[in-house]
Amino acid sequence: MIDLTVKIAGVTLGNPVMPASGCFEILPEQERVLDPAILGAIVNKTIFLKARAGNPPPRIRETPGGMLNSIGIPGEGVEAFIEHKLGALSALGPPLIISIAGNSVEEFCRIARIIEDTGKAELLELNLSCPNLNDGLHWAARKETLFEVVSAVTEAVSLPVAAKLSPAVTDIVEMAATARKAGAAALSLVNTFKGLVIDIEKKRPLLGNITGGLSGPAIRPLALYCVYEVYRSVDIPIIGMGGIASWRDAVEFMLAGATAVAVGMYNFVNPLVMAEVVEGIDRYLAANSFSSVKEIIGLAHRI
Ligand SMILES: Cc1cc2nc3c(=O)[nH]c(=O)nc-3n(C[C@H](O)[C@H](O)[C@H](O)COP(=O)(O)O)c2cc1C
Repeated sequence: MIDLTVKIAGVTLGNPVMPASGCFEILPEQERVLDPAILGAIVNKTIFLKARAGNPPPRIRETPGGMLNSIGIPGEGVEAFIEHKLGALSALGPPLIISIAGNSVEEFCRIARIIEDTGKAELLELNLSCPNLNDGLHWAARKETLFEVVSAVTEAVSLPVAAKLSPAVTDIVEMAATARKAGAAALSLVNTFKGLVIDIEKKRPLLGNITGGLSGPAIRPLALYCVYEVYRSVDIPIIGMGGIASWRDAVEFMLAGATAVAVGMYNFVNPLVMAEVVEGIDRYLAANSFSSVKEIIGLAHRI
């Protein structure tokens, strides 16, 4: 028997595999394809305080090895989320990682407290890639705003907090260290990379929001590099993501230093991918004579 359990910020996961936020809605029809109970954790699509409509269409475009999306995080708002979805998510079994975002520091703290009061979340993931209303830059673009929001939330709640960082920065290691200093107990690396597609017939950007976030295998080496670099200097657990499409990719992220991995865009290509990743990691560990998945975390740094 191989031990697949890992620990993120004091939360024990049955295995290191989970969906990336926004990429796996648990619907009754999906449960017939993939049993969510096999996952290491469940992660919701980011919720805001109030309902949001999202961005104008078109919102999605397939690109080489990936997908550009400018969905814009539409949603029902935190109270409706609690009323309609949280109970069902929590009944699935695996620990719940609740992804939240706010337009202001106060909003982040309010949602965090509301979620904490439900008693159903094990970990809060702060989506810091959305713009803040003061300067329009995303929260994780500058050390000052990153520190401000992460420290405010970690002071406001006793739930552990994972800071989900954007790769659109000069130095991701500096940002990761800032999040840790502000009290983050874990890091989620990374969110999408900003990209553009132009419609050559209409001679203008194709997406309704002009730019979008690139995800999928196209970003894997970029995301893997972020995880590798951050692991070398920041000593809190990393949930690694970006283009994971198979168990081999997941193993790469763990060898680079991720304690757990999240699968995003590839769920749309292969709805069974997360189950295949769990099974594949197990087989890889057995074939390489490991008794615990924890033994491979960061192993690529030995040289
Ligand atoms: C359709 C779509 C919706 C997403 N929605 C969210 C979201 O609500 N919150 C968030 O933090 N990240 C969101 N992401 C980013 C993913 O969680 C993930 O960080 C990124 O896509 C990289 O992983 P991947 O290449 O496996 O998709 C979204 C990505 C996609 C493709």
